[in-house]
Amino acid sequence: MYRLEQQLNSIDRLIGDLQGAKSHSERIALITNMSILLADANHYHYFAESGYGRNLIFSCAEFEVILLCWQPGQTSRAHDHNGSLCVMKCLSGVLDEHRYAKLTGTETGLYPIGQSQISAGNTAHITDEQGLHRLGNGSQADACSLHFYFPPIHNTNVYCLEKGQKKQLKSVFTSEYGIKQCSDLLD
Ligand SMILES: [Fe+2]
Repeated sequence: MYRLEQQLNSIDRLIGDLQGAKSHSERIALITNMSILLADANHYHYFAESGYGRNLIFSCAEFEVILLCWQPGQTSRAHDHNGSLCVMKCLSGVLDEHRYAKLTGTETGLYPIGQSQISAGNTAHITDEQGLHRLGNGSQADACSLHFYFPPIHNTNVYCLEKGQKKQLKSVFTSEYGIKQCSDLLD
């Protein structure tokens, strides 16, 4: 009698590799170079009833992995990453990313420092030193992106673009480990 080994999918393999990574540059390279199939995220693929879907796939002391599911027109607010490294990989569709910096001195608010599109298969990363950002799906089709935070972010700071005011929100999820939660979030 023999036992069939359960096949690890691309997300499982990447999580295993990340647990052995020693530096942020190694983590970014592993995520950039791993080809992730959207089908491997099927178990976590939930849209939210309001806002975009936030689906927790994996969490440990060092990092967490979240699948964000965006319907056309859905956007996040401008936010920082509470000192964490954020690496995002688009699995399907196209996301628009707007980056901002905070005005200093007597002026208030955020000012734009960059804009880009992240399309399926592409990876980007951001830290608080690089700025704040806002993501959205401006296309006519659904989009999905896999987000890695080193370390996990339990509270997110969202910002008012005009006044720069900051508000702290607790991270909540549409689903956790494949199980749909009762209430939808959203930042
Ligand atoms: Fe972010």
